[in-house]
Amino acid sequence: MLQFGTMPPGFRVLIVGASGELGGALAAACARAGASLSLWGRDSQKLERASAQCLAAGARAVSIRSLDLRDLDAALRAIAAEDDESPFDMAVFAAGLGDIRGAGQSFENPQLVARLVSVNFLAPSALASALAQRMAGRRHGRIGLIGSAASFHALPFAATYASSKAGLARFADALRIAMRPHGVSVTLVSPGFIDTAAAHRVPGPKPFMLSPDRAARAVLAATLRGKGHAIVPWPFAILRLIVAALPRVLRDPLLRSLAPPGI
Ligand SMILES: NC(=O)c1ccc[n+]([C@@H]2O[C@H](COP(=O)([O-])OP(=O)(O)OC[C@H]3O[C@@H](n4cnc5c(N)ncnc54)[C@H](OP(=O)(O)O)[C@@H]3O)[C@@H](O)[C@H]2O)c1
Repeated sequence: MLQFGTMPPGFRVLIVGASGELGGALAAACARAGASLSLWGRDSQKLERASAQCLAAGARAVSIRSLDLRDLDAALRAIAAEDDESPFDMAVFAAGLGDIRGAGQSFENPQLVARLVSVNFLAPSALASALAQRMAGRRHGRIGLIGSAASFHALPFAATYASSKAGLARFADALRIAMRPHGVSVTLVSPGFIDTAAAHRVPGPKPFMLSPDRAARAVLAATLRGKGHAIVPWPFAILRLIVAALPRVLRDPLLRSLAPPGI
């Protein structure tokens, strides 16, 4: 069994969302373990910075790709071309978008709904599916998908974020079962709060916040072990059970009460 820190030399890893804070921490951790990396994101300057940091940290090789995941055909062509050139041993899909609304904005903008579904659900599901098929042909590979503890709850102020991540969670579970006989593991990681700028844009308290480095270590440990589902940190697993056990008459006002003021 592979463990974090013991990647074989040249272990080839794709990080989608490597220009982000969790993605950057994932890339840096893989670099320290001597991986060969492909870093995807949109912001090419951030990708170039991440690439330089990864090379300095010990990555065997780094390539970058700037692309918008909403152009799904281009993303599918890119993953196929990169995997043909040098097959991936592992991929972590960490790109994601939130749906923060300002005070008084009670309704979600339909364009934002479509963007969130594309980035949080459609693209990672389609890309993971394409890569799983290729990995299954080699009978080897690990796929990590970044969900969210928000997906456990019907958050009325983040309906699309919670539900796009819930869709991704169901997809990950089904793909995991389908891929097991083919030697490919699929891991869903559902973090609570990670200390990133994106999290700080969400109003309200953020208990049990993880640093990006700690979250990245948890993601890589779970994905390399081939664990089905990791909820980090663990109190969010307990919270999930408590809220699920509540009757709707108690649950609905509780979830409503979590809404930021003015929404
Ligand atoms: N932070 C938290 O508290 C928290 C909690 C639970 C789950 N998560 C999940 O963890 C992941 C990383 O979160 P983070 O806090 O590190 O966020 P972040 O720093 O904002 O990173 C988000 C990443 O997604 C990429 N991205 C967004 N839209 C894209 C698009 N249309 N095409 C291509 N790439 C796109 C961004 O690329 P560019 O920057 O280049 O545009 C960036 O690399 C997300 O999936 C998030 O939902 C975060």
